[in-house]
Amino acid sequence: MAKSGEKKVTRYTYDDVTEPTTPETGHTSLMSDDELVVTLPMDNGWTKALEIGRLPADEERTIVVDMDPVVDPILFWAGKRSKREIPILPLQRNEIISESRIAQIIERARQAATETEFQPQQLSLFADLEKTLRESEKDKRVDFYTHDEGWKNKLICGDSLQVMESLLYYEGLRGKVQMIYIDPPYGVKYNSNFQQRVDSTKNDERDQADDVLTIKAFRDTWALGIHSYLSYLQERLYLCRELLADSGSIFIQINDENVHWVRVLLNEVFGAANRFATIALNKTTGFTNQRLSSVYDNLLWYAKNSNQIKYQQLYSSKGIGLEGAGVYNKVELPDGTRRRLTQGELENMDHLPPNWRVFRLDNIVSQGESKEPQPFEFEGKTYYPGANSHWKTTIDGLKRLAEKRRIEVSGKSLAYVRFYNDFSVSPISNIWLDTGTGSFTEPKIYAVQTGTKVVARCIYMSTDPGDLVFDLTCGSGTTAYCAEMSGRRWITCDTSRVAINIARQRLLSATFEQYRTRNSQVSSGFVSKTVDRITLKSLAYDLEPEKVQLVNQPEVDRDAIRVSGPFEVMTLGRYSIEDWQGYFTERGKLENYITVICHLYRKDAAIQGASGLVHAVAESEQEKIAISVGPLTGRVTAKQINDAVQDALSLGILDIHVLGWAFEANVGEVKSHIESRGKIKVQLLMIRPDTLAEGLKATQPEMLFSPLALPDIEITVTNPENGVKEAVVVLKGVGVFDRKRRTTDYYQADSGYVAAWYLDEDYDGDCFVDCQMFFDFSKTPNLKATLKAEVDPEEFRLQLISQAFPVRGYKRIAVKVVDVYGNESTIVKDLA
Ligand SMILES: C[S@@+](CC[C@H](N)C(=O)[O-])C[C@H]1O[C@@H](n2cnc3c(N)ncnc32)[C@H](O)[C@@H]1O
Repeated sequence: MAKSGEKKVTRYTYDDVTEPTTPETGHTSLMSDDELVVTLPMDNGWTKALEIGRLPADEERTIVVDMDPVVDPILFWAGKRSKREIPILPLQRNEIISESRIAQIIERARQAATETEFQPQQLSLFADLEKTLRESEKDKRVDFYTHDEGWKNKLICGDSLQVMESLLYYEGLRGKVQMIYIDPPYGVKYNSNFQQRVDSTKNDERDQADDVLTIKAFRDTWALGIHSYLSYLQERLYLCRELLADSGSIFIQINDENVHWVRVLLNEVFGAANRFATIALNKTTGFTNQRLSSVYDNLLWYAKNSNQIKYQQLYSSKGIGLEGAGVYNKVELPDGTRRRLTQGELENMDHLPPNWRVFRLDNIVSQGESKEPQPFEFEGKTYYPGANSHWKTTIDGLKRLAEKRRIEVSGKSLAYVRFYNDFSVSPISNIWLDTGTGSFTEPKIYAVQTGTKVVARCIYMSTDPGDLVFDLTCGSGTTAYCAEMSGRRWITCDTSRVAINIARQRLLSATFEQYRTRNSQVSSGFVSKTVDRITLKSLAYDLEPEKVQLVNQPEVDRDAIRVSGPFEVMTLGRYSIEDWQGYFTERGKLENYITVICHLYRKDAAIQGASGLVHAVAESEQEKIAISVGPLTGRVTAKQINDAVQDALSLGILDIHVLGWAFEANVGEVKSHIESRGKIKVQLLMIRPDTLAEGLKATQPEMLFSPLALPDIEITVTNPENGVKEAVVVLKGVGVFDRKRRTTDYYQADSGYVAAWYLDEDYDGDCFVDCQMFFDFSKTPNLKATLKAEVDPEEFRLQLISQAFPVRGYKRIAVKVVDVYGNESTIVKDLA
């Protein structure tokens, strides 16, 4: 059975970094009514250059990068703009996940593996985010953006454009991001790179054709094809530039089909002079016979400013016979004799006896005439460096090299003897052959997942521990995962709920090696392994060999395993229906927004005849439904549902569909309560975050609206002898409305429909605090590997009964269920 040992569970936090307090869900409505609208400039001077045929002189130049649009080629496409006005929404914290609770997951799994009873441990060791939140006064928490709090990593559900604007204008992160990784959808005609389910990378025909449950994880369909794609990237790249620190780097992963467009665009935004490298990375080992196989992706690396870039050289171990070691073709045997390796030996380099010292002959002269003649006597003969050359060291140096047997005769001149072990690693270059999906053991949880080796390398090359890393194309959260692994802070976002949920689960179940820090703060850096580099110079001058840091190989504390640090799950928005109504009527936009949403939902939706919070009516022979739309930048409240139901009843309609971008946590209760009166049916549908994004083709309604699955739970409250009440929650199932059949289907919690569920033991009505988290451990191989336990996957299946917990504070719990399509729904219950 298990041999998990007594490793302590640790995590990294970044107490030395602060950030402005961000509003929690529901509190954004308390912010000033003034809408923040900014103009996003997407111009490095090219509009001016076009206008006047040259760039204006000095002060007038609007140039932001070292590039002259008059001289350097610029790309134009249909719809290219030089600026765009966009309203900015604040970010809001919906959920926090504290370090101790993450550690508990691992502890629980470990206990399961060792078959002992679960005892929550070491909670007090952590200055816990959860505790801070619970104990801070609620009214102080609404005082956002005015004081600072400790840094938390961020997983954000939302469109990258708005997320970046918010990071710039509300979160104050201009110039604070050290590295950005983008793995965008690859552009036109690439329809397969979306994922419908949290638990499978395969897209099922049935799911696709089926009802609203289908969530196309990203719609790679662009209204104007490559033109829309370029506009999409242009807007985002200009924002990336604003976020980057002066020493920062951006990496864009792109296949060879569109790389040329993207590269010209990057030249425009960052300046051709700031192109730092282009890396070719092997992405697959699959070959096809139909045409030349395409097995690589490009990684375009630009610096904000190549003169200031933070860059660390990485090394890979050479391995005899591997890349970087190919020219080592001689050997020194244990008795000191030297000879060439035979062909057989060369082909089996890694099987040579360990005490054979492999070496090669290297140059001992450099180009350029010496001032004086440089005769050097070796084994009874005099040698000269040759025409237009000089020795790499002094004559004394050469003598010392000769004493150390580091010189050999090669033809008519001399050569330097370089042993393979003089430097056991070789610098990595811009061709990465070892990154193909077949070459590492990571199981894929997302259809278009990047290997951790790739992203981790980029992080190590361009950042230091504690630096901030941002990925606007989260997917399965590879960048966040690698940032956690390497002790960097992170922010990531995605429009797809499938992606957000996959990433959250991945981070929650991940365990990492604990790296030794120089002092207790991560920002002090890690103690990395070093290797000696014996050089011609160090030998010639009797110097200590140079110590080379392997920054991507920090020293590991074997007594500990590490879990993800605390993070928050966020969305964008301003949650208040009142604000929204005022806002829209005032500017005459209300009708427009509502009409658009209603028509996307039902082509036959009629705005006429609607009244109050019933915004449209759709009528066919079989049905008549009232449609109510939630605020553009807020969540649907219980009040909206109740009022809309009254309005529907007064119109004589008994079926109401409420569409929203987000819902208050108690809407499930409200729905059940209304329906229990037996009169009217209420359906709650979530609108996909990027539904109104410019450039994306309007897709079928089932792609855009997905029904809220409402959890069915049972709570038992016990009254033990010591007087502290304890509660246990059982997840029984989840009810989901099927629009085709017009029925609510009930799925048992263990039917495979539920991907994960989360419990807040003391819900304050605003931010969901993940106290207990349950998901299918059998799908988290990393965890099993770390625990080194021979575990039965059955033991790790989704657990449906919570741990007992004390009833406290608000005497109220919230349960959030995530279904396999990434839809989340929350139910709130009183424990009183
Ligand atoms: C190719 S995948 C990234 C995969 C990721 N590198 C990984 O390892 O899993 C691209 C991701 O970008 C997301 N995406 C596309 N457009 C977006 C947008 N406008 N805002 C946020 N995310 C977006 C998609 O939903 C998708 O998950």
